[in-house]
Amino acid sequence: MTEFRAPVGTRDVLPQESARWERLVALFAGHVGRAGYGLVLSPMFEDVGVFERVGEGTDVVRKEMYDFEDKGGRRVALRPEGTASVVRAYVQHRPTAPFKAWYAAPNFRYERPQAGRFRQHHQLGVEALGTDDADLDVEVVALARSVCAAVGLGRVTLLLNSLGDDVCRPAYLDLLRSFLGAAVLCDEHSAGFEKNPLRVLDCKRDACRTGTEAAPRLVDHLCEPCTAHFARVRAGLDSLGVVYTLQPRLVRGLDYYTRTTFELAAESLDSAQNAVGGGGRYDKLAEALGGPATPGIGFGLGIERLLLAADAEGVFGVPASTLDVWVVDTTGGAAALELTHELRAAGISADRSFDGRSMKSQFKSADRSGARLALVVGDNELAAATVTLRDLRGGEQDTVDRADILKYVQERLS
Ligand code: HAM
Repeated sequence: MTEFRAPVGTRDVLPQESARWERLVALFAGHVGRAGYGLVLSPMFEDVGVFERVGEGTDVVRKEMYDFEDKGGRRVALRPEGTASVVRAYVQHRPTAPFKAWYAAPNFRYERPQAGRFRQHHQLGVEALGTDDADLDVEVVALARSVCAAVGLGRVTLLLNSLGDDVCRPAYLDLLRSFLGAAVLCDEHSAGFEKNPLRVLDCKRDACRTGTEAAPRLVDHLCEPCTAHFARVRAGLDSLGVVYTLQPRLVRGLDYYTRTTFELAAESLDSAQNAVGGGGRYDKLAEALGGPATPGIGFGLGIERLLLAADAEGVFGVPASTLDVWVVDTTGGAAALELTHELRAAGISADRSFDGRSMKSQFKSADRSGARLALVVGDNELAAATVTLRDLRGGEQDTVDRADILKYVQERLS
């Protein structure tokens, strides 16, 4: 028979590894919740147009999208990223602004799988819509930074840039095109830099690296309002002590960005996949999705990448078991059934063995579970209406009346 495996580029996350995910999502929810962001749950698939409008010129949309026709003949796509869905939801429901949302959700990109690059990856993200106040940029960038710090990551660099707006960027792009036209670039880009010249600045190949060394920088060609906005963002970050590196070459992999853009690069990871997160402003996106002109900004942190970086730095390990009690029953199982039920109802975590296993095997499971206490019911205990309680860490043992066991366990655990 065929043995099925998880599709290429996807992973199963099993206990106890999944306990880290739970902890990470809870840490993130706490951080962004304290800053006024509320959880948004949006569909995992959308009309393909939602994504086409936001990134027609990008690989994420042109080459990597899981799009298909559903049984009703609709063209849909599995979400390649979270921002478009949240902005589509904003346009549809028009909540009061500023609208501050967070999510923890899977995204799907048909990429070439490699370390840190998956076909299904997961992001923790925020989106804030309704104001272009630079203080919001500062809040969002600082939040992304502080989540990394709370995970314990010390070797993460915050890269910051401004991509201008539709007043200053077109003139800059013309300038860049004429520069690139005269430069020596890699094969891919010497043929195709016209459409998306910014991408060339991000190309990792040597020819493009050298060929663009003296390329004009967008930050030097920002219009007056974009210059002022970027100055306020930097001053705000400085005032909070958020350390960043200006990176005029930083262009993001999606088309919708305007003004502030940023990335968090983990020095502990291989440079091709070292972005643990990224984000920026997208002041034209709501309009592109048919809504009223509404500025917005957000970020996405890759859960897999954050955890890879945590592994590389030796932080944020798999948490120890939180199981309180293991019930060992050698009298047939009925006592274990009742005891675990009673303990759980009282808020104590409890588990047991099944299949009438031997005492030895049940104690082995108890040890493996990491539980603090074992409650043992053998023939003697059953006859005497008692339970033997063993501390699995210290080894001490007491025999207690069955009727008093809850109180006793609660005392031992407190
Ligand atoms: P992105 O840079 O495409 O931005 O993805 C954000 C993060 O998701 C990346 O920095 C990386 O950590 C992780 N990531 C992306 N693709 C993969 C993959 N194939 N495998 C593993 N991890 C991956 C966005 O998606 C934007 N929506 C972020 C944003 C929110 N901008 C504004 N608001």
